[in-house]
Amino acid sequence: MTESPVQLGSPILVTGASGFLGDHLVRRLTADGHQVVGTYFTQPIVKERLESRQIDLSNAEETKKLLEAIRPGTVFHTAAQTNVGTCQLHPDQARQAIVDATRNLVDVMDGLDPTASFVMVSTDQVYDGAPLGKKRYDESDAAQPLSTYGTLKREAEEIVHRLPRGAVVRSALIYGPPATHKQSFLAWLLGSLERGEPVTLFEDEWRTPIHVDDLIDGLLAVARHRRNGLWLAGGSDALSRMAMGEIACDLLGYSRSLLQSSRLSDSNYPAPRPANVCLDSRKLEALVGRPFRTFREGLLSIK
Ligand SMILES: NC(=O)c1ccc[n+]([C@@H]2O[C@H](COP(=O)([O-])OP(=O)(O)OC[C@H]3O[C@@H](n4cnc5c(N)ncnc54)[C@H](OP(=O)(O)O)[C@@H]3O)[C@@H](O)[C@H]2O)c1
Repeated sequence: MTESPVQLGSPILVTGASGFLGDHLVRRLTADGHQVVGTYFTQPIVKERLESRQIDLSNAEETKKLLEAIRPGTVFHTAAQTNVGTCQLHPDQARQAIVDATRNLVDVMDGLDPTASFVMVSTDQVYDGAPLGKKRYDESDAAQPLSTYGTLKREAEEIVHRLPRGAVVRSALIYGPPATHKQSFLAWLLGSLERGEPVTLFEDEWRTPIHVDDLIDGLLAVARHRRNGLWLAGGSDALSRMAMGEIACDLLGYSRSLLQSSRLSDSNYPAPRPANVCLDSRKLEALVGRPFRTFREGLLSIK
């Protein structure tokens, strides 16, 4: 049985508030009346009721100064270098933005208030692609990243697990309504379809896309129930990229003739991409109290 949730400690720190997820998370928290401090690195973010701070989280001194000044009661750590190709091509810079940044935050929080909830968003890219015959990963499966991005996120996860209230939420591909600066893959897909441009989608890359609001419900539930450990967050259906395109076309009235099929196995990306990293989210859904949306339901709610 799940114990009653508690209030989130105040203020709440959201790292990466200028990113896609951070932007939506800040909107939710401020709308719910929380006192929120949000950080950005290069893209200033201005929002009603948000205290916005510029910082390079890979700088230990700056991070210490910020945390000591605001003394957060809860931390949602979403900031990272999220471009998988950039991470592969510039591993040292990626390590700073992912591993060093996380260590800097955790080291200071450990000294300041180790009982504050610290929730880091990680990724399905820590898996190498589903083993034969197994449809979805769950929390008991071993992570064996293929790419530099996945390897660095996995390393950062271990740092977070040192905190008594450190939790890692491994998210699937995130989509949702537009954000201020950064967009999800949906903006690219729908933008191209709207302009009547053909889109090329893999038929052999499988994901469990999650609506950003469902992911946020999951992050908030983990913090409110003061949980640590590992949580997986994916949507209710397992889909190829091509299937996502087909659902979008059928639901929004675009012609399927704009969709061009290709194969991940024939592609030439700078970073290796696992073919099937579908996630089983039943543990997190139980904490939230409902199943996460299917892609079709998610699109309908955005439409
Ligand atoms: N998007 C997905 O589909 C997806 C899927 C699974 C997991 N995730 C994880 O979810 C989290 C959020 O993803 P997202 O797509 O919302 O990210 P995003 O839009 O790319 O935003 C990344 C954020 O990190 C900040 N940042 C980067 N380097 C920094 C540094 N050195 N110091 C301080 N801040 C820095 C950026 O700041 P500026 O923009 O101001 O420079 C931005 O606010 C990430 O941890 C990602 O690994 C994402």
